[in-house]
Amino acid sequence: MRLFKPLAAMLLAGIVAAPLSSGQAQDYPNNTITVIVPFSAGGPTDTVTRLVAEAMSANLGQQVIVENVGGAGGTVGAARAAKAEPDGYTLLLHHIGMATSATLYRKLPYDPKTAFAPVGLVTEVPMVLIARKDFPPNNLQELITYVKEHKDEVTYANAGIGAASHLCGMLFMQAIQTPLTTVPYKGTGPAMTDLIGGQVDFLCDQTTNTTNQIKAGEVKAYGVFTDQRLANLPDLPTVKEGGVDGLSFAIWHGLYAPAGTPEPVVARLSEALKVALADPKVIERFGELGTAPVPADQATPAALQAKVLSEIDRWKPVIEQAGEYAD
Ligand code: MLT
Repeated sequence: MRLFKPLAAMLLAGIVAAPLSSGQAQDYPNNTITVIVPFSAGGPTDTVTRLVAEAMSANLGQQVIVENVGGAGGTVGAARAAKAEPDGYTLLLHHIGMATSATLYRKLPYDPKTAFAPVGLVTEVPMVLIARKDFPPNNLQELITYVKEHKDEVTYANAGIGAASHLCGMLFMQAIQTPLTTVPYKGTGPAMTDLIGGQVDFLCDQTTNTTNQIKAGEVKAYGVFTDQRLANLPDLPTVKEGGVDGLSFAIWHGLYAPAGTPEPVVARLSEALKVALADPKVIERFGELGTAPVPADQATPAALQAKVLSEIDRWKPVIEQAGEYAD
């Protein structure tokens, strides 16, 4: 009895998440599900999430809606998701930033290793280097020479410390040994608008947010950060072909629930994710945007958790060597 009273009080006050009853877990889902995108609407993470959410909704029989919570390179939205009710109705779709922020932020309000119940990997998206269409350089070597000669004027856009565009910029500036002025946004959606408008000079961003603009000639493209050229942009050389070696990486994306979300609910979400990633419409649209869904055996909690842990270890020494911290 002595123990029951405070527990009842805490349950009433919602301090302790009342675990979903097995009945509730079986009934899951019986309500709208919200996926938090930790960047602005219209950007690459938003594009991927909306495609997957629509396909998952069909399988789950409930609406899956997107809420954009941008800021601080994705850590504001991730913190919101980490604190959400672990009932399967609030999820997070985030990318490599989940791992890099573990080192970039020394005072992160959540632990990327434990604050989430991973649902599964989603896709890996290549990065390309682009600039406003009237930017003088016409190839990668000219761009490197130009930004070195104009390093006090040239501006580089990114989506905040912890973003993919921040990581790519950091690696590129390290490779050419030239720190540049960065202009932070809440996502590369708005950064792209300013790039096309000529307010900022160049940006490194995902093919899911750049393919259409490159094909339409709205921006200049200098190279892709992959070992091979992309099928959807065959004329775009790799940065290796452009003379910059050792810069090959892609932006992996994962779906998460808050830690404490019941295992049967996470398993149901992982199943729906697998079905969504096998959807011909999703596969076709991803292909048009230069990417592809991960194989089914990667759309699992274990695969995503392993990725988060290995990527935290991979980027920690790189970030420490750059000495680039958000706080
Ligand atoms: C976005 O969706 O805006 C991007 O993922 C931003 C980034 O990480 O560069």
